[in-house]
Amino acid sequence: MMRLDKLLANSGFGSRKEVKKLLSDKAVIVNGVLIKDGSVKVNEKQDQVLVHGEPLRYQAYYYLLMNKAAGRLSATEDSHQPTVIDDLSLKLQNVGLFPVGRLDKDTTGLLLLTNNGNLAHQLLAPNKKVAKRYRALIQGVVSNDDVDAFAKGMDLGDFITQPAQLLILQVNPEKEQSWIEVEIHEGKFHQVKRMFHKVDKEVLSLERIQMGPLVLPTDLPRGHYRPLTPKEEENLVAFGLIK
Ligand code: URA
Repeated sequence: MMRLDKLLANSGFGSRKEVKKLLSDKAVIVNGVLIKDGSVKVNEKQDQVLVHGEPLRYQAYYYLLMNKAAGRLSATEDSHQPTVIDDLSLKLQNVGLFPVGRLDKDTTGLLLLTNNGNLAHQLLAPNKKVAKRYRALIQGVVSNDDVDAFAKGMDLGDFITQPAQLLILQVNPEKEQSWIEVEIHEGKFHQVKRMFHKVDKEVLSLERIQMGPLVLPTDLPRGHYRPLTPKEEENLVAFGLIK
């Protein structure tokens, strides 16, 4: 059972205010009865809800794969700065989605958005050691010594990282810059940036390209998103994805 106004918001009928208006406009009928009070409890699986005469189809869970744009906070709301939720369609802004884990404001790339708290919890649980893979442009010439330091596990003061796999893609000796990929097995605040600081280098740009079984699609522009494919969903069932 859930409140009718929540059911309507979760089903993409807009913000609380918009849902209220829908109800006061006499657009909502539950089991043949016109209802204007959003606090009425309905059984989302059994009751027949019509909105402007159309049957409402309830979807409990949403799963979206986003290529996060730079300049967006990995949060659901913020009074000053745009969040990843602001990049969703109006319908999807009100269904209760949140990002699974955090990317820094300037970090781009793969971000899973869902309203399934259990899935998020499992993907982020330290004991699950879900791998996260990043591509980055580094100020500095990344060397094999750095590869070794990452592979050993690194003492960052407040914790020691799991061994991380660092791959040097390309080095530009004149500019003293390097393209790398790195795979880490935790997701501590600023972890990749802190690991490069530790070897006296700086992350100039950072993009997440993989999280567990999810890979950033090459054809998904920054700031865009799409539902998971059936194959991606299947790969997350072991982490608690339910439809
Ligand atoms: N590591 C960082 O430093 N920043 C991110 O956004 C993700 C991983």
